[in-house]
Amino acid sequence: MAHQYRTLSWHRLLNRHKQEFLAWMDENGTRLKMFNKLAEDLEQYVIHCLTIGPFYEGRLSLIRLRPTYFCEQFANCIPDVFTNCDDPHMYEQYMAAQAYAHVHLLERYRRFWDVLICLLEAAVLPMSEKNLQVLDVGTGPAPALYAVSDFYQALHDFAHEQGYISLITSTPKLDGIELSYNMRHFMHIFSEMSYRTNGPYRVTFGQFEGLSFGKLRSDKRRALISREADEQDTSEEYAKEYVDFMHSFDHLYRHHLIIFSNFLTKGDVVANWQKELRSTFGTLCHGGIVVVVGGSGEKYDPIYQAVRDIAKNIGLSEIPEVSTKIPCNYSDISAQRIKEHYNTIWAWIRANTDIDEAFLTSRKIAKKLWNPQKRLKEASSPPEFTLLTFRRSGRPWKWKPASEGRLAKKD
Ligand SMILES: C[S@@+](CC[C@H](N)C(=O)[O-])C[C@H]1O[C@@H](n2cnc3c(N)ncnc32)[C@H](O)[C@@H]1O
Repeated sequence: MAHQYRTLSWHRLLNRHKQEFLAWMDENGTRLKMFNKLAEDLEQYVIHCLTIGPFYEGRLSLIRLRPTYFCEQFANCIPDVFTNCDDPHMYEQYMAAQAYAHVHLLERYRRFWDVLICLLEAAVLPMSEKNLQVLDVGTGPAPALYAVSDFYQALHDFAHEQGYISLITSTPKLDGIELSYNMRHFMHIFSEMSYRTNGPYRVTFGQFEGLSFGKLRSDKRRALISREADEQDTSEEYAKEYVDFMHSFDHLYRHHLIIFSNFLTKGDVVANWQKELRSTFGTLCHGGIVVVVGGSGEKYDPIYQAVRDIAKNIGLSEIPEVSTKIPCNYSDISAQRIKEHYNTIWAWIRANTDIDEAFLTSRKIAKKLWNPQKRLKEASSPPEFTLLTFRRSGRPWKWKPASEGRLAKKD
């Protein structure tokens, strides 16, 4: 409905309204309210899982499992959640998704708000009147997707309230690629429990490795040819001509915003994923953005260089206006809320189980989680995180990825 009123490019529109939108959010405390709601929902959900188990075992099993059992399993996963996030097998542990979300969800969510604000300030925030397609690779408990959902909701509310009709856009379609069943289950139930009607509720793909969007498109085309040949009782040659005349497959699997948040963390793995990265970057719509968010420091430099090379090779350009280093804050009001979240969960655990300080120390559970006196910032806490931003801009007709075959040539 809104698009009939838009006479300006998104870039101009965002430039025109961005400061006012940011001021409106400050005035209304929008960001903080959304952050607090997420923190409250997370507390409720984690405590629910610690009480009856993540898969409702406590309620269903004949011998009722007790919170001590669930809390011990939860605590056992905590050290790995800090030091072993790169290992996909880690997420197979019972309660790993809950432990990961408890430690990282709020921080990653608020970092992704910072990312979206950077995109807004550079006036390159992905926009679409009808169908904003978002893909989060290595979704985990979906901190980035929850941030996207809330941020665009705020933008929508602002545009509506101020009567900026062209800025009133549709709700983003949130999609992901996530290998771990525990993570997918967490995301589904958590979205449900926190009444997030826009989800995310599911991911389209489990495995990133081997994923080729070009192949998916040609598989769809082949399946349709076979169906038409059968239904029309005709030759495959004729069915091919018919399908190519009647259908387009190029529009399948297109994204306005593609996210890699703490996913591209190992050099050898990224080197092996060249084809997958090219294919995924290739699904970007005209004007779309790829963001890569992750750690900072020398260890990551070769990884980011490899990602830059792939992006350049496929015709994406890095956006110079968007800073590549974003400071981490350990003392602002959101940081205090994260600390409060840790206090709430561990106070509950200690009040409802036999778990004591000796247990926590013996299991090497980070003190900043369970000791209210300990500050969030530790000696090893990073001062900043990295943000790479690539855009597919200008001349879509010039873009022809070699690896995607004939079906993906055009926009
Ligand atoms: C470090 S977590 C990042 C989660 C989230 N994006 C964040 O920023 O907190 C990495 C996630 O990627 C998932 N993952 C690892 N290898 C994968 C693969 N080959 N395909 C899909 N997901 C994968 C893991 O299960 C895990 O949930």
